[in-house]
Amino acid sequence: MTARLDLGNIQGLLARGYRGLRYARFTVFTIPGPAAGHAALSWLLPRVTTAAAFTADSALHVAFSAAGLRRLGLPDDVIAGFSAEFGEGMTGPDRSRFLGDVESSSPRFWGWGAPQGPPADGLVLLYAATPEILGRRQAELASRLAAAGIHQVTVLDTLELGDSEPFGFHDGISQPVIQGMSKARRGARALPAGEFVLGYPNAYGQLTDRPLLPVSGDPRHLLPRDPAGSGAADLGRDGCYLVLRQLEQDVGAFWRYAAEATRRPDGSDDPQARTALAAKMVGRWPSGAPLIKTPDADDPRLGNDNDFGYHHTDPDGLACPLGAHIRRMNPRDSLDPHPGSEESLAVSDRHRLLRRGRAYGPGTAGALASDDHAKRLAPDDSAPAAGGTGLHFVCLVASLARQFEFVQHTWLNNPNFNGLYDDTDPLAGSRHPRGATFIVPARPVRRRYRGLPQFVRTRGGAYFFLPSISALRYLEQLPAGAVSAPAAAATTR
Ligand code: HEM
Repeated sequence: MTARLDLGNIQGLLARGYRGLRYARFTVFTIPGPAAGHAALSWLLPRVTTAAAFTADSALHVAFSAAGLRRLGLPDDVIAGFSAEFGEGMTGPDRSRFLGDVESSSPRFWGWGAPQGPPADGLVLLYAATPEILGRRQAELASRLAAAGIHQVTVLDTLELGDSEPFGFHDGISQPVIQGMSKARRGARALPAGEFVLGYPNAYGQLTDRPLLPVSGDPRHLLPRDPAGSGAADLGRDGCYLVLRQLEQDVGAFWRYAAEATRRPDGSDDPQARTALAAKMVGRWPSGAPLIKTPDADDPRLGNDNDFGYHHTDPDGLACPLGAHIRRMNPRDSLDPHPGSEESLAVSDRHRLLRRGRAYGPGTAGALASDDHAKRLAPDDSAPAAGGTGLHFVCLVASLARQFEFVQHTWLNNPNFNGLYDDTDPLAGSRHPRGATFIVPARPVRRRYRGLPQFVRTRGGAYFFLPSISALRYLEQLPAGAVSAPAAAATTR
């Protein structure tokens, strides 16, 4: 049975990506102490957009890291009820290596979120219908945060939302559908709400790990009670984890590599072959058309097509390479032990991400918004913009370990993914110094592209918790270090 979601208590980012609010800015901040944090929260709280019906011209969301929750006054023993990855943070011991944040992606080079820099305690995500509205809301936010004594660490600007990411490919097509949300149509494959929202049954029929408090820790009864019936106050319910990573894209290197690798024997450029190789790396053509449906040429009519599996039509990757970005990030029905089966789909579904990223980069806004692929496909036009271009990658999950970290480590950066042996993700994978290979299955012989440079580097990042409205209310009134020992941990997974 589908659990009924409390949409008025859930932050709206879980329900929508705000395609109508084309302008966004993300503010990362440090909380000097509980008083400043509470003052900022009391201003923010009435402005937070919920998942209930929405028609406004702007939206606001607020999230906190584990360090931020601590600085709001939440005691360590309560924070321990969140998952270990969240507690340790994105740059915790061994985590950088695990996530591929090494060499030029190392936190040593990050602009924000690095251990040596100011702590990324909190995050405000602002969305607006016009640049003017965004500018006004942002100015108001900055002055209110300053008045509360909050320090801004960085303000991450984004480009006007178009259809494409900076390499020039239509993005944001494939998203998981959540049971109980408006997009879940009858008959459509929808995932249990607990895969994304804490405090609801997940795909294993269990409630995800989340912090629970003894009722004495919530004397004003601000929090919902544990749906498992323990009687504890549920700080996690209706919230989720939010991953933010600033991923810089070397657009020039990407298209230069594709051009060099596809030159004709006489040394001349082959634009069609260049685009076809880039599409093989992504698994979709620039229009978004999936290679599995149209392997030889782009077909913009299929630009939003997301209705396919891999195993029955393309078990060997002749249409869509086994190592292509989208085939790695969501292998659909291609996983063992029974590819092509419902069971295989269910295995992939344990690792879905709700993506909410936005592109950034000076000087490319016009090109991106106009969807002028041809313009961007010209190599001369693709030199990296000063200050960097890329994706402020945002994803929402109920389990950092099983969803984001698994996909990043075991699929994106795994050179042995799906029987391959030296291929990390051709688009966004990290590389060893000699580069990676990219295998394109073909008959009679497959093509092996060598020396793929690293096209994407991590420039900042942090793990946040996107609390429910009731949890935000609870955090706002929290005296420093007020709550006693937590109730027993919730069922895990
Ligand atoms: C700058 C880096 C990245 C770029 C340029 C990029 C680009 C793309 C593009 C063009 C698509 C196809 C559009 C779609 O299916 O919605 C896509 C799909 C996807 N990407 Fe990425 N991506 C990047 C990084 C990542 C990372 C780091 C992850 C996860 C750790 C990720 C996860 C996904 C997922 C889950 C899909 C949907 C696959 C499907 O369901 O078929 N991407 N990405």
